[in-house]
Order: sequence, then C-alpha cells, then structure tokens
Amino acid sequence: MAKPGRSCPRHYRYSPAVFARTADIKAQSLYVVGGLYGNPFALEAVLDLARREGAMLAFNGDFNWFDADPTEFREINDTVLRHVALRGNVETEIAGEDSRAGCGCGYPEWVGDGEVERSNEILERVRETARGFPGLRARLGGLPMHLVAEVGGLRVGIAHGDAESLAGWQFSQEALRERPERAQALLAGAAVDVFACTHTCLPVMQDFATPRGTALIVNNGAAGMPNFRDARFGLATRIAGAPSTEALYGARLGAIVVEAVPVRYDHDAWLARFDRAWPAGSPASVSYRKRIASGPGYDVEQALRTSSNGALSRAA
Ligand SMILES: [Fe+2]
Repeated sequence: MAKPGRSCPRHYRYSPAVFARTADIKAQSLYVVGGLYGNPFALEAVLDLARREGAMLAFNGDFNWFDADPTEFREINDTVLRHVALRGNVETEIAGEDSRAGCGCGYPEWVGDGEVERSNEILERVRETARGFPGLRARLGGLPMHLVAEVGGLRVGIAHGDAESLAGWQFSQEALRERPERAQALLAGAAVDVFACTHTCLPVMQDFATPRGTALIVNNGAAGMPNFRDARFGLATRIAGAPSTEALYGARLGAIVVEAVPVRYDHDAWLARFDRAWPAGSPASVSYRKRIASGPGYDVEQALRTSSNGALSRAA
C-alpha cells in the first residue's frame, strides 16, 4: 500500500455508472456545500443563504476537519446531519480506525510530503475527538458516497471527489487543465448534466460536450476557507431556476443556472477560533493558517474555464 494520505483506498471507489440512476432527491433550488472543514461560522452562513430562498442543502463531505474541539465537533455534526449529507474522506476516516489510509486524501504528486504528514496528524486528532461520540461516528460512517439530484429537469451528480472515487482528483482544477479528456469520459459515463464536487481545495467550473449535450463539472473548492487571493469567504455551488445576485460566476444550462456563490462568514471570529484550536506550530496552523487569513494564490479567472459555446460567464 502507498504511504498514508497518498492512497485512495479500494472501498472509496465506485463506477461512474452509479450516477446513471433515478434521482434520489428533487429540489427547486440546491446548494452543494463541500469542504466546510469544521468552520461553524461558514455553516451559519450557508444555513442563512438556503433559508432566504427556501433552498435545499447538500453537504458533500469534509464538513469536519478543524473541529477537533468536542463541543464544536458535536455542534457541526448535529447540524449538518439534519440535511442531505455525503461523507468525504475526513468523515470516512474518522468513523473508522484504519490508520493505513491516513487522512484518505489520495494526495497527488504536486502536494508535498510535509503537507500530507500534517494532514495525517490533523486526522488523528479529529478521530480522537470523534471517539467520544460513538453515535455520531456511526452516522458519519453510514453516509452515502454519491447522490443524484434533479433540479428543474437537470440531472446533478454529487460526490466528494470525482465520478469514480470519494477522494479522486480527476475533477481538480489541475487535472481538468492537464487531462480534460479523462474528466470528459468520466462525466459522460455518469450520464449527468452537472457534476458537483469538492475535495481538491481549489474551485473550478468547466464545461464539456457529452452525449447528453453540454455538461458541467463544478468544484466549489472549500465552503469553510477562502478560495481566492486576498479573499475572506468560502464558496458553495448553487443550482437553481433563477440567478443569484451574489454569484461570483456561473453558467446557464437550459432553464437552470449553476453558480459559485460566496459563503460570507465572520472572518475575524473564525480566525480567532482557529488560532485557539490550532496554535502556531500545530499541523493545521502550518498547513492552513495563511490560506485562512488571506486566501490561496489562485484567482477567479483561473476557476472559470470558458469554452467557445459561451455558456459560462462571470458575474458583472
Ligand atoms: Fe476531501
């Protein structure tokens, strides 16, 4: 087996064909919230976004990560599990005791060894917290890995990673740039119009030609951390019949819009909470504090992959 944190365990895998099924849920308006990473202020913000328009929420994994504090862990999970939820690698690994997978991230070669080791340490700490909540832990372990939603007649595949693995990186912004044909084949195999995912840390929206017509891969990056240079908000994917005035960018597929909507949480409160849980020198601080404070080196223009058909547009 590969080093912990580098591998993609076999039980993480599924076939793209699992998405070619009747929708599990139907919504008028849906927010797909990936990578909340234990940020309670971001959770408050997405609940508020959904409440304002009566939208459904689907949490597609890694809603735990920085919530090693037992009270925080319980509150995040109690709240998220009232909604549609899928497990990410974090939930899968903290629900079990198999340390061979590490954080289960399946990190590719462009992520350094130090970061992988620190992720394994963070996972160990959150798992220790989870041991205090056997009921929640069992519920997390029992969550599905994939979901099919129908929004206004559009078929939406939802998973944490990609169309063949819970921790897959084929729908990362890096792989979409370097191996678009691989993503296109997976998308076609899933027989969906939209594939909503997260896990790979940075957002991207890219369109493809499939036998069903134009289809989109939309990765929200992180709901609980900034995704762009100098930004202080997370992102969620919104799929609905009418555009949001808050969208940063989006695409129209027939009568439906698919958008990246900012998750505007209390930045100062979150930073203070993070610093208390993960002081300077701790693995989470070393790996993530800079990003939480001022965003990654990534810009909105890089997330939006336009093609010649003009289906995509940046909000004015
Ligand atoms: Fe993940």
